[in-house]
Amino acid sequence: MLWAFILLNSFCLYGSAFDILVYAPRMMQSHVYFTARIANVLAARGHKVTVIDNIFRYDVDNELSPDIHQILTVEPSPEVTKLLNTGSLPTILWNSKASPEEQKAIMEGLGHVHRLQCAHLIENSTLIPKLQEMKFDFAIHEVFDSCGVGILEVIGVQKTVIVSSTGPMDVVPITLGVSDTLNTPCKPYKREIFKKFLFQLFYQTTTQDAIVSPLFKKKYGLKKSSGDIMRQANLLFYNIHEGSDGMRMRGRRSYDIGGIAFKEQNNLTTEYQNLLSDPRPKVLVSFGTAATSSHMPRNLKTSLLKAMKQMNDVLFIWKYESDDDFTKAEEMTSNVVFKKFMPQTDLLASGKISLFITHCGQNSLLEAFHAGVRVLAVPLFGDQHRNAKLAEENGLIEVLPKKDIETSSKIVEAVRNGLLRNEKIERNLIQVSSLLQNAKKNAENLLISTIESTYSVDPPPDFSKFPKNYHPNILIVLIDSALAMLFGLIAFVIFKLLRKNIQ
Ligand SMILES: *[C@@H]1O[C@H](CO)[C@@H](O)[C@H](O)[C@H]1NC(C)=O
Ligand SMILES: *[C@@H]1O[C@H](CO)[C@@H](O)[C@H](O)[C@H]1NC(C)=O
Repeated sequence: MLWAFILLNSFCLYGSAFDILVYAPRMMQSHVYFTARIANVLAARGHKVTVIDNIFRYDVDNELSPDIHQILTVEPSPEVTKLLNTGSLPTILWNSKASPEEQKAIMEGLGHVHRLQCAHLIENSTLIPKLQEMKFDFAIHEVFDSCGVGILEVIGVQKTVIVSSTGPMDVVPITLGVSDTLNTPCKPYKREIFKKFLFQLFYQTTTQDAIVSPLFKKKYGLKKSSGDIMRQANLLFYNIHEGSDGMRMRGRRSYDIGGIAFKEQNNLTTEYQNLLSDPRPKVLVSFGTAATSSHMPRNLKTSLLKAMKQMNDVLFIWKYESDDDFTKAEEMTSNVVFKKFMPQTDLLASGKISLFITHCGQNSLLEAFHAGVRVLAVPLFGDQHRNAKLAEENGLIEVLPKKDIETSSKIVEAVRNGLLRNEKIERNLIQVSSLLQNAKKNAENLLISTIESTYSVDPPPDFSKFPKNYHPNILIVLIDSALAMLFGLIAFVIFKLLRKNIQ
């Protein structure tokens, strides 16, 4: 009876189920979670979803549901394990500055890890032949690991969906050749630096291509660049929501599904309920899963703790991932509670958190907005700077630059300010929170309806079929540089003429 019901239900869901391949690199927790949610939603809908679980790290869960039809795992390469085991990645992330050079170095480092794992995957003698035998209607891959791009091309799947678990880094629309409004906020950067940032983005495309081209060219004679392959994509989904990002013009075939990665809410345990019954205002502190608190440079940790201790009328709940000498030495601090894991979603939703100090990852930021909690952002790397800047410009959050954590008094000032009433921010938060209430369901529906309508058409429209739009950022940089050269030339000619006249 139950089986009949399930069977009936899955037929009712959609006329014909699709065979879908999802390439999911298990590297950064937030990216994995976002991609897995998409796979799970489509599988729950009744589609037949196969996932390539390309494991970089076993300490990250693949987050896949039992609805997934088949999981093809790839073991981590020994070199990748060695690189990631030293704890060097979080340390590098913590030490990076928001400068173009350092952000480029981070992308290079990550690119290196992805390249090593991709080379290892290609060496697996069963995976690609097995995939070549299977038939897929289309495939989904995360934009940050272009190994997926190469795999899909060599197994002959040309209908693809790109998903991005971060906000739109300009490199994505630039690679796809679609027009999009300015995404990189330029305010925190001086004009020259902004231009440099843009050029680094082009560099990122090369980094991605360096993963695909040499590896797949050597083994499979692949001739296309990663950009050319990506432009065949039919759809692009971003993990953002207009509530926090603001309305922006979108290229055709791009959709925002921020909210899809909201976690299911659970009841808090008695331990947390007791913590939350503390009458003091409560501040949640978490820097996410990539730049973990336990790898924070010593001077920053010490300064942050010193600031917390100075505010013993406030209770701090700090996600700190290890039982090291730092937490042991501080066990006696009565207003700081260290937690290796914390139910962030449930704590934020409790209505008892006054302020959330966060690295400003897209998932955390949206969760805070959903719950209407005040945010003090300390952006560290990647899209976090853009997320923080946009939300700040939209009057939703306040930002504490990482370097200010070196100074306890600046932290105290920022936290005190964050605990004060601020009518403008509170009003905006109420608005964004109400916009986000149904975001999860809406995002799931948008994902399903867009995908099903796109692949009911054969062939579905792809980005490479559209006239190539030039990204406004490229035009800005080109015009800017051309004007600078023109003025330089005019100045030079005037100078020469004047000198000639004087002589
Ligand atoms: C190679 O791929 C297959 C899946 O087709 C998987 O079962 C196996 O574990 C992989 N081997 C390694 C070393 O990753
Ligand atoms: C949470 O608690 C409420 C009442 O206290 C209960 O009805 C509900 O089933 C609980 N939810 C979960 C997910 O345990």
